Amino acid sequence: MSLKRKDLLGIQDMPVEEINLVLETAESFKEVSGRDIKKVPTLRGKTVVNLFFEPSTRTRTSFELAAKRLSADVINFAVSASSVSKGETLLDTARNIEAMQADFIVLRHPMAGAPNILAKLLRASIVNAGDGGHEHPTQALLDLYTLREKKREFKGLRLAIVGDIAHSRVARSNIYALTKLGAEVRVIGPPTMMPLEVERLGVKVFYDMDEGLRGVDVIMMLRLQLERQGIALFPSIREYSRLYCLTPERVTLAAPDALVMHPGPINRGVEIAPEVADSVSSVILDQVTNGVAVRMAVLYLLSGGK
Ligand code: CP
Repeated sequence: MSLKRKDLLGIQDMPVEEINLVLETAESFKEVSGRDIKKVPTLRGKTVVNLFFEPSTRTRTSFELAAKRLSADVINFAVSASSVSKGETLLDTARNIEAMQADFIVLRHPMAGAPNILAKLLRASIVNAGDGGHEHPTQALLDLYTLREKKREFKGLRLAIVGDIAHSRVARSNIYALTKLGAEVRVIGPPTMMPLEVERLGVKVFYDMDEGLRGVDVIMMLRLQLERQGIALFPSIREYSRLYCLTPERVTLAAPDALVMHPGPINRGVEIAPEVADSVSSVILDQVTNGVAVRMAVLYLLSGGK
C-alpha cells in the first residue's frame, strides 16, 4: 500500500481512493500513539526536514512527533536563524537541505505554489504544510479523519465553514475534500471574505450566519487571516464578531448533535466564544490528536508504504 506519488501538494488533485487510503492507514497509527512506547521502526534511517517560513504550533509539532514516532531523524529548520536572512532563496535553501540527503521536506511558505516548485526540482518528497491561501492538505485530511471518527459517513453530511473563506487554505482544501466525498458544504462569511465564483467549487454561499447554520451537522470555524488580508475587509473586530462569532445561541441553530471544529489557532471571543470552544460539542483537540496519526500515515505512504 502506498500513495502513487512522490509529493503531497494538495487535495484538489487527490483521488478519493488515495484520501481513503490515508484515513485507513491513520487508524493503525493512532493505535501506536496510544501505546506506552509510541514508536515503530517504519522510517528508521530516513530524514525529515521541517522547513517553515511561517509560524506554526500544531502542524510543525505534529509532523515532528509523527516522524519521531516512525523512528525517522527530524530536523526543524529555523528560518529566522538561517542563511535565508542573508538573502538565500527558497530553492537554494531546499537544494542545500537535499544535498544533506533529506528524504522529506515539509514546507510551509507564504507563497501559494511554493511546494509545487520544489516538488518539480527536487528528488526529496515535498509535503505541503500550508502554502499562502492555496492549500493545507494534511489539515483537511485530519479534519476528515475526525469527521469519520465522529460521524462515520461523509455522504449527505451537512457542513458549514464559517469566516474568512477567501484567505483560508484550510477552507479550500476542505471544500475540495468534502465535496469529493459527497458532503453538502455551505460557506458563510461577509461578502468581502468570499472568493469570487466560490459556488463553482460546489458549495452554497450564505452571508447571514444564522441562516447558514440552520440544521447543519458540523460547524467549522476559521480564524481571520489578517496576515493575508492586506486591507481592512470589515469595519472592526467587534462588528465582525457580532455577525460571525459562534456563540452558544448560534450553536442551537445547528442539528442537536452538531460538532464544532476549528483548525486553530483559535481567537477566543472573535470567531468563537470560549464556552463553545470548550463545550462538549467541540472536537478541536481531537483534531489536534488526530493530526499526528494522519501525518504518520502521510509520511509512511509517501515513503512507499513498506
Ligand atoms: N492548523 C494549523 O495549521 O495550525 P498551526 O498554524 O499552528 O500549524
